[in-house]
Amino acid sequence: MKLLITGGAGFIGSNFIRHLINKYPDYHITNLDKLTYAGNLDNLKDINGHPNYTFIRGDICDAKAVADAASGVDAIINFAAETHVDRSILEPGSFIQTDVYGTYILLESVKAHGIRRYIQVSTDEVYGSIESGSFTEESPLMPSSPYSASKAGSDMLVHSYWKTYHLPAIITRSSNNFGPYQYPEKLIPLFITNALDDKQLPLYGDGLNVRDWIYVMDNCEAIDVVLHKGQEGEVYNIGGGNERTNVEITEIILRETGKPKDLIRHVKDRLGHDRRYSIDSSKLRTLGFKNRYSFEEAMIDTVRWYRENEWWWRKVKSEDFKKFYKKAYGEVEW
Ligand code: NAD
Ligand code: TYD
Repeated sequence: MKLLITGGAGFIGSNFIRHLINKYPDYHITNLDKLTYAGNLDNLKDINGHPNYTFIRGDICDAKAVADAASGVDAIINFAAETHVDRSILEPGSFIQTDVYGTYILLESVKAHGIRRYIQVSTDEVYGSIESGSFTEESPLMPSSPYSASKAGSDMLVHSYWKTYHLPAIITRSSNNFGPYQYPEKLIPLFITNALDDKQLPLYGDGLNVRDWIYVMDNCEAIDVVLHKGQEGEVYNIGGGNERTNVEITEIILRETGKPKDLIRHVKDRLGHDRRYSIDSSKLRTLGFKNRYSFEEAMIDTVRWYRENEWWWRKVKSEDFKKFYKKAYGEVEW
């Protein structure tokens, strides 16, 4: 198979490319990535130069760049997106541009080239918040942030291309991922790297918001299963089955880094902050998928990875990163 991965220099995409290269020695993978602040070729340092891997710097909103990269491929798996809720609250424009318009360009290219499969990597955030119970793939979309709204928009577009043009498209909606190479603006890598440096951990609101955490390699395996066995026109939820409050996550990180509780700093709540995410993944299990990683062990491994890979995150936590946080949360000392 020849696969085009878009956004493969980010967190999940780079783990997915590594997963494919290790598992399928006869596949060829092209990675089309714009290298925004979140894209990082260090994420694939070990793969760079591999005979089955090609990197192209390009934007999914650029029809010509996409057409060139997509020519002759069997499938496109789209990870490319603006992904951070806090940034979307401050500056939503790039989210609409990449997540919605970029998806449109990819869908047009699938149509023009007769590509046999298109996977849209989406998120459980499109369903919005749920007090009790879990969302299924049939639940209505009720996004709360400009990020989740732009992802919901792209999901709608994918669905319409399947319905109208019979495009062979499938959507995955995973819960919150964690693991190696996650940009340290997201809760888990931010708190681990801050704790390692004895810096404050800015916990929003009462810290009792709940997320369902999935180890990134389980999500990669699930996307692989959907790519090979999923039904066209369908949506598959990919949950971790590990619902934890942000306070619980923070306690694990403090325990594993051996740091004191007084590093926690309660800060003002995120605007429109979703209280709880929860999805039912039983449909995915009908394809034969099972989560392999224990949450506790994966968290311990993840803390160890950041401790052992300072070379990776110190470069990422650059002056630009600090400038963004100063602007967003002037009250926090970085
Ligand atoms: P990320 O922010 O780490 O990486 C995004 C990648 O997309 C970067 O490499 C960036 O350079 C690239 N990119 C951005 N705009 C682009 C454009 N216009 N053209 C080409 N490349 C572009 O994101 P992630 O956490 O790896 O998420 C990947 C996908 O998975 C996203 O679609 C996201 O919505 C979805 N998702 C993420 C999570 C999570 O917990 N991280 C959970 C569910 C779904
Ligand atoms: P995040 O990693 O941004 O993922 P998402 O909002 O897309 O689920 O945040 C996870 C949870 O952690 C969310 O409830 C917001 C909270 N949070 C903090 O309390 N402090 C922080 O500095 C960050 C980044 C997130």
